Amino acid sequence: MVKLIGFKKVKTAVFVSGKGSNLKSLIKFSKTRKSPISIDLIISDNYKAEGLKYSKLNKIKKKVFNFKKKYKVENKILHILKNYDIRLICLAGFMKILSKNFLIKFKGKILNIHPSLLPKYKGLNTHKRALDNNEKYSGCTVHFVNSKLDSGKIILQKKVKIKKNETKSSLAKKILAQEHKLYPKAILNIFNL
Ligand code: GAR
Repeated sequence: MVKLIGFKKVKTAVFVSGKGSNLKSLIKFSKTRKSPISIDLIISDNYKAEGLKYSKLNKIKKKVFNFKKKYKVENKILHILKNYDIRLICLAGFMKILSKNFLIKFKGKILNIHPSLLPKYKGLNTHKRALDNNEKYSGCTVHFVNSKLDSGKIILQKKVKIKKNETKSSLAKKILAQEHKLYPKAILNIFNL
């Protein structure tokens, strides 16, 4: 087992737009001894994101931005990330697309989790599309973010079986439970742990 005594955790920001269940699982993971990351900042584009509650609960700073003026906002965020010495970004249900200008600044240091077996079902409504196509399997993917939607290098995937009577919501629930395990595993993986 790799010992991380004296190991300085990599400061990480998590970007969320909604419920934040992946954020919750990442925070839990970040507090374990084996985690190579600490979560130091939560960023959102949505003032009403449920996930923001994990800021107060865990004493993690949060910042919320209106993305209407995207370039301006992204530059503001870049500035804040620098101030917080953030070295890694985890997108966790973040529903805005980051511009090339932003991505270049964090090249190879932005991860995303997506609820399908990429390259299948990029974008939205993944579960409905998988069911409509009578897929036998679906799943989730953690990947590096590049300038094309849901297309960066895949780090890890987890497959789940689709049952005969599966519904959109039962499939979403089943996959989300796997996402919570997959994201921490993918982080260990990129640090070769
Ligand atoms: C998750 O299923 C995540 O994979 C998905 O949004 C959900 C967020 O849930 N992300 C995307 O669809 C990104 N394209 P959470 O807020 O409870 O973590």
